[in-house]
Parts: sequence; structure tokens; C-alpha cells
Amino acid sequence: MIRVEDLQKTFQTERGEVRAVQDVNFEVPEGELCILLGPSGCGKTTTLKMVNRLIPRTSGKIYINERDTDEYDIVELRRHIGYVIQQIGLFPNMTVEENICVVPKMLGWSKKQQHERAADLVNMVALDQSVLSRYPKELSGGQQQRVGLCRGLAGDPPVLLMDEPFGAIDPINREIIQDEFLKMQADLKKTILFVSHDIDEAVKMGDKIAIFRDGKLVQFGTPDNLLAHPVNDFVADFVGGDRELKRMRLIKISEALKREVPTVSATDTLDTAAKKVEQAGANHIVVLDDDGRPEGVLTQGDLDSKGSCGDSAHPLRTTVQSIKDLRTAVSRMFTYNTDWLAVVDDDGKFVGEISYRSITEMLHASRKRGEKKGAA
Ligand SMILES: Nc1ncnc2c1ncn2[C@@H]1O[C@H](COP(=O)(O)OP(=O)(O)O)[C@@H](O)[C@H]1O
Ligand SMILES: [Mg+2]
Repeated sequence: MIRVEDLQKTFQTERGEVRAVQDVNFEVPEGELCILLGPSGCGKTTTLKMVNRLIPRTSGKIYINERDTDEYDIVELRRHIGYVIQQIGLFPNMTVEENICVVPKMLGWSKKQQHERAADLVNMVALDQSVLSRYPKELSGGQQQRVGLCRGLAGDPPVLLMDEPFGAIDPINREIIQDEFLKMQADLKKTILFVSHDIDEAVKMGDKIAIFRDGKLVQFGTPDNLLAHPVNDFVADFVGGDRELKRMRLIKISEALKREVPTVSATDTLDTAAKKVEQAGANHIVVLDDDGRPEGVLTQGDLDSKGSCGDSAHPLRTTVQSIKDLRTAVSRMFTYNTDWLAVVDDDGKFVGEISYRSITEMLHASRKRGEKKGAA
């Protein structure tokens, strides 16, 4: 969908040549979000601006839908590509609705169509409809940023370029707007180039990440690939010493949990529980209620006496949902000082257990798979 080939940009300045972008090659498939990541001055913005021809390139090619961007009429190209930047650039003398509808108006949409589009978009970014008639200066920075996003999406362009769009928003609201944006993207499936200097944002948002240094692309891959196999010290430093912890954010508990664990019901005898525990080589067993929800736990010391499981069971201190990520699981294990958790589905039914051990095995196995892929 977007293909960049041998891209170069050299600025001529009074202090001589600045080679802002050098020999950059990468490809973003349709519907994917690719993060351009790297420290300040490494060429991210320059690369982005060459895609919509805000900056002419020195050499190389950029294709959108297999068509050279140089062959597009410039108006057609820009209509194809939404552009969202940190400095927002809302027009102060236009209402929010007029700001959002700049492109739809240019495309000749009726007033009614424009209004409906603006109303849908503000709804999508969780703003109140009342903002439509307000002016940019009456909104907070975060609200303005959302309006900027609406404007970029208004003409329904298949491609979006986003240059640190959430950079000016405070951390709490940034998390919220990132989550909303990801939800939107799951439906809209735009092809997106997204500039960031924040590794956490990149890992969270990117299908792919391109790491730049001094105008060169040093590594291109999935977030997990970058975290598990940084190609050099620069990437390793950039992704951080806690990269294994970051990987845990990318993996759902459902991918690492152990499903074949013994369980008993409250009416079962302790004898039955003891046999199951021994067979499984476990040190505890979860007690389920009639609906399959975990209601308690028996540990080895509880199993010597007589009676029913229900009478001897201890309440479970906590459970965790299988749709959460491994970070959540580990964090909860720390909080409750336990080395395993009962995992439940959306309905609260027991689906298995997650432990420190199953997590380390999972991280290790998927790193190994990545190595093999890398070697092939
Ligand atoms: N118009 C320009 N004229 C001269 N040098 C520029 C110009 N724009 C960017 N540069 C230089 O190109 C390099 C890359 O800049 P930029 O793409 O803005 O980096 P990033 O977005 O990664 O922070 C920097 O060294 C910057 O100073
Ligand atoms: Mg920049």
C-alpha cells in the first residue's frame, strides 16, 4: 500500500549539506499502522512529509497503491492522505465543525452531509456534540488534538500521516486518546504512518515499527520482534533495559495460560481432590461453583483431612481475565504475593491458570521462534 524505495533527502544549508534521510526502504501493507520511531532529528518528520510531497525528495520513490506519488495530481494526492500533526493548526476564526469539514467542503459535499460527518467524527473521538459550534480557543489542548484528528479523517482518506499527534497531551489523556484511536482503527483499517519518539507508544500502537537513527532506518519489524531481537546496541538502548517487561504487554494471558489443570466442585470429597492434585503434580487445586466459576482453592495441607472440598476451601484472593496482557497478570501476582492466578473468561468462568513459570516459558519460546524466523 505504501512503499518507500531508496529514499533520500539532503538539505542544503548555510552550514553545508544535511543528509536528513538516507537510503530508506520499507513497506506498509494496507490497513496497518507503522510507527516511525527514533530520537529527535533522525529524519522521521522529513520522511513523512515526503509521502504527501510537502517536502520534495532528493531521490528515491514513494508508491501509494503501486502508483508513484510523483504521478498523482497534488490535490488528488492530498485528498488521498489525511495529515494530523502535533501543532494541530486549527483555523482560529472557524468553528470546530468548519475546521473538521475543510476537506468535505472542498469535495463539494452538501451542508447536511458535512454536518453529519462532523457529528459522527466528534462522537467517535468521544467529544460532546456541543463542541461543533465552538471555536478552537474555547477548547483544551486535548480536545483540540481530537478535533485535529477528526479533520484528518473527515474526507475518509485511505492513508493517514500522523506526526506525534498525541505528543502535546498530558500522559493520562494520552493513554485515553491512544485507546480510543486504536478502537477506531480496528474498524477503519486505515494505512497509517505514525511518527513517535516514545517507545511505549510505539509498542502499544504499532503493527510495525521502523527505528531511525541519523537519517537511516536501522530496524524494521513487529514490536515483539524489535523487543526480542534488537539488531544492535542502539536499538537495544532505545527500546530500554526493561524490554522483556514491555513484551509482556504484547501477549495476552490467553496465549500463555495452562488450560489442563485439575479442578473440583464444592461437593467433591477432599479425597478426590488429593488424587487429582497428585496426578497433576500440582500443589493446589481450584474449587469451582456450579456455573464453572472459581470460588476457592485447596492447597496440599488442606487435603489430609476428611470432608467436602467446599468446607475446607479458602477464598481465592483474586482472579484475572484471559483477555488481559501478561503485564497485568504479573502485576497482580506481585500485589497478591502469589506465583499463580486463576484465569477467567468474560463470563467469569474458569479457563485455566497462569504462573510465573508459564510466563517465562512463553516469553522464551516466542523469542526462540523469532530467532528461527530471523535466520530463515
Ligand atoms: N528545512 C530544513 N532545512 C535544513 N535542515 C532541515 C530541515 N528540516 C529538517 N532538517 C534537518 O534534518 C534532520 C531531520 O529532521 P526531522 O525530519 O525534522 O527529524 P525528526 O522529525 O526525526 O525529529 C535534522 O537534522 C534537521 O535539523
Ligand atoms: Mg519531527
